[in-house]
Amino acid sequence: MITVKKKELLAKEVGRLKLQGAQIGFVPTMGALHHGHESLIFEAQKMCDAVVLSIFVNPTQFNKASDFETYPETLEADLQRAERLGVQIVFMPDVEEMYKGNLVVNSVDYGPLTHSFEGQHRQGHFDGVVAVVRKLFEAVDADCAYFGEKDLQQLAVIRRLAQEEFAGLQIKGCALIRDVDGLALSSRNVRLSQEERVKALKLNAWIHALKHTIEAGRSIESALESILTAVKNEEGIALEYLDLVDPENFEPRRSGTDRGEAYAVVAASVGGVRLIDNCRVLCS
Ligand code: PAF
Repeated sequence: MITVKKKELLAKEVGRLKLQGAQIGFVPTMGALHHGHESLIFEAQKMCDAVVLSIFVNPTQFNKASDFETYPETLEADLQRAERLGVQIVFMPDVEEMYKGNLVVNSVDYGPLTHSFEGQHRQGHFDGVVAVVRKLFEAVDADCAYFGEKDLQQLAVIRRLAQEEFAGLQIKGCALIRDVDGLALSSRNVRLSQEERVKALKLNAWIHALKHTIEAGRSIESALESILTAVKNEEGIALEYLDLVDPENFEPRRSGTDRGEAYAVVAASVGGVRLIDNCRVLCS
């Protein structure tokens, strides 16, 4: 495994692999790797000959300075894990290499996709995500790029970016991975106390309750109303949203409109740690 900090060297190394006919799979991360990231690497290895992993905590996608400053960093362990998993190249640029002194990013308008839910509650978040992912896609020049479905709205935004600007690149969404207790894996989970972790499990319970109620035939409106009533009585969890959406455009899904696949999505803070979760719901 080689680690590179400069785009120029990365291009050279990727070019070398491509000359040998290798298909390149790209797994972008912000480090603090966990089993969710591992599953992205495994998916990339199923389809590609070589995996490029990036580790870069992108300052422009954090809407709260405190979240950026306390974002977990475990570089040594990340590199050992990447090596053990058989990653070929780790790209770990610094802020200067990525942004060349200009941290002002353009605003991105993909309609409700960038302005609702995460876009509404984390102003400017998708502007930063799109800015950095565009730079990473340009730098890595991969055949396929892998993203977790835990960040479902991010995945839809990136699919749109690729559709508009990176025609040859395939975007692969990979299943959300849960811990044994059901908590969706996230690098931020390490900041939860034991007590907060128990509370955090409610997010998974709520979206699954919504799923089961709707799949049992109750109307979306009535299922949402009863779950939101229960959620409001919950102490220690600051709910941002809980809804049912179309996974492609993130428009809220309601009864009487399209049938088929939808997603229950939730975002909330527990002990100051922001968490998101989602699950698939079949609407009939
Ligand atoms: O999902 C993440 O870890 C980040 O948002 C990404 C895609 C690596 C961009 O910084």
